[in-house]
Amino acid sequence: MASASDIPASAASPQSLKGFHKDVFPNGTEDSVHSFKAADLIIERSQTPKARPDQTNLVFGTVFTDHMLTIEWTSTGGWEEPHIKPFDNLSLHPACSAMHYAVQLFEGMKAYRDADDKVRLFRPMLNMNRMAKSAQRACLPAFDKAELVECIKKLIQLDQEWVPKSNSASLYIRPTFLGTEPSLGVKKPSRALLYVILSPVGSYFSTGAKPVSLWADSKYVRAWKGGTGDCKMGGNYGASIYAQYEAVDYGCQQVLWLYGDDHQITEVGTMNVFLFWTNEEGEEELSTPPLDGVILPGITRQSILELTRKWGEFKVCERHLTMADLCCALKERRVKEMFGSGTACVVSPVGRILYQGENLHIPCQEDGPQLASRLMKELTDIQYGRTPSDWSVIV
Ligand SMILES: Cc1ncc(COP(=O)(O)O)c(C=O)c1O
Repeated sequence: MASASDIPASAASPQSLKGFHKDVFPNGTEDSVHSFKAADLIIERSQTPKARPDQTNLVFGTVFTDHMLTIEWTSTGGWEEPHIKPFDNLSLHPACSAMHYAVQLFEGMKAYRDADDKVRLFRPMLNMNRMAKSAQRACLPAFDKAELVECIKKLIQLDQEWVPKSNSASLYIRPTFLGTEPSLGVKKPSRALLYVILSPVGSYFSTGAKPVSLWADSKYVRAWKGGTGDCKMGGNYGASIYAQYEAVDYGCQQVLWLYGDDHQITEVGTMNVFLFWTNEEGEEELSTPPLDGVILPGITRQSILELTRKWGEFKVCERHLTMADLCCALKERRVKEMFGSGTACVVSPVGRILYQGENLHIPCQEDGPQLASRLMKELTDIQYGRTPSDWSVIV
């Protein structure tokens, strides 16, 4: 078994992180000229375009478009020019730090085709902000976020025929950032690879509105204070798969992640969670856990908070919610709806929670989950350009 002594002393004693981002950007800002630039893109077109799949029958993340974006970085040379090239396997050094120490992160966003055939992104700078934050936590270099959006737009333009012609399917965008340090020391990488791949994905609407069942057990913890749960790092997800299978063994579809001795409700599977209820003071309230370090700051979560605060129809709160709060509210019939939120499904109603051997049935408002349905409509109307909004950015 590997032990700390497997790691050479020079590598085990970390260098200072101070100035790491300054190494890349001497003026200390991400807008520095030292980032890659979309204007420098080198484009090599695929000579063997693939047949596009039947978009009614897509399994998430299994089919990829003809091209990918790659951008390499070294500590000595900084960022190289961005490349768009035919989609292909990567070639990585077997000691690559992403493989050994999970020096890795990713993002998840989508491109939508509107009725006028224009392709749109939804709040892409929010994904870039989250990606930059994950990069800092992973000791990966900073980059100019606006330039990365421009590079992604160019990639989508090249593969635009892959954006489904549908008012519910979309093109999933997966920016990925790897430490490619070719040595086994546990240290900040001297090399990195940022790449973006695209995958057409089907509609969630056929199955998405069906309430999901959750397994709530404190046996596994998704994230903890001081950890990386508030960043989108692959390790958070790899470590969650085992619990997901246990949830299925208990007859549930997903895990309701709890935290702490008081069983705080944190997230649902890979979604943020919302409770629409009458709170302890008798007020109608939409609540979601606060960004206290164990919550991934979802773009959909932020959008739901901003939309509902703008409506001004009920109290909107970022607050801790425990299983005891939920059980008490259920007993007193104060729960109206509960739902998860995320890019994949927008909103996903919760129908049942298995907790301490008991099935908790989560009510929906009469005729189905009214708030979840309304949010689904408002958000998808913006994403597909049916409602004009500066949240929707044309590619
Ligand atoms: C753990 C986790 N929580 C929440 C979310 C929702 O985030 P977003 O709304 O940005 O898709 C995701 C999805 O990426 C996630 O992986």
